[in-house]
Amino acid sequence: MYASLKGKDYISTQDWTDEEIELALEKSAELKFMFKNGVPHRFLPDKTIFLLFFDKSTRTRNSFEAGITQLGGHAHFIEASSSQIAHGESPKDTGVILSSYGHGIAIRHDLAPGEGNTYIREIAQWADKPVINMQCDVDHPCQTLADLMTIREIFGKDLRGRKIAVSWAYAPSYAKPMSVPQGLIMLMTRFGLDVTLAHPPEFTLMESAMKIARENAKKAGVKFEVVDDMDAAFENADIVYPKSWGIESLFHKPEEALEISKKYKYWICDERRMSLANPKAVYMHCLPADRSNEVTDAVIDGPQSVVFQEAENRLHTCKAIMALTM
Ligand code: CP
Repeated sequence: MYASLKGKDYISTQDWTDEEIELALEKSAELKFMFKNGVPHRFLPDKTIFLLFFDKSTRTRNSFEAGITQLGGHAHFIEASSSQIAHGESPKDTGVILSSYGHGIAIRHDLAPGEGNTYIREIAQWADKPVINMQCDVDHPCQTLADLMTIREIFGKDLRGRKIAVSWAYAPSYAKPMSVPQGLIMLMTRFGLDVTLAHPPEFTLMESAMKIARENAKKAGVKFEVVDDMDAAFENADIVYPKSWGIESLFHKPEEALEISKKYKYWICDERRMSLANPKAVYMHCLPADRSNEVTDAVIDGPQSVVFQEAENRLHTCKAIMALTM
């Protein structure tokens, strides 16, 4: 089974079968154990991955860079704005050339709906090495794999009957991509969770992701519902995942989206809202969080928060993806 993933792209969780996702989670747990116990795991000696960023990052860049080093390989960081991509070099030429220099290409291209996923898939079409999505406009499959790992560590593998509330929350910092909530509704409906999505009317997600979530939920026999009330979403939830995102049609006019979002400043995860969820509910966020806007310090620093466990699992899961595919 491991051999079957060699060379495979990881652009959306939806591109991998349930068995392949299970394998990635098993490998992540194995690598976490080895890392924590000082067991060497140089599974990719002398291999090179190119990390191509069109946007900023803390967790993703550093988990990939540290991860490939721990696996015995090396990462090249490429900022799109300081490469020939900024002068218009095509995805075809970039994909062919980078894949001839190394063993994998990972890309973050997440800020413009309709662009990132298309760009990554075009690179993948021409690259003869695996291409990994480090976040696009549609999905953030490295994040959601780490989220599923974290949820299973807390609640166990059988998630049937458990509820996750994926909610929009107010943030004034910038119009954040839609890919995390989209990735969550697509993946969590496949692995047993009942999913409630909550957002103000203007903050809809892409219809393509909604359709996949509805189909996945039907196939798995779980619930997928959409509400416009954060309180209602939190009621009886086992996992709450409130975060901000932008308006699909306004990513090229982010100030307009931020102006609209001001109407919903009360969409914050605070202790009152946490009290609506199950007493043992956990608070998750992909980070970075807008403290005092998306979430209060009392919640994100409180006993129900698992954000640092979640962030740490980004390391173990990206190592698993690299080890399995490169
Ligand atoms: N969650 C996440 O992708 O973090 P970064 O934007 O810091 O990479």
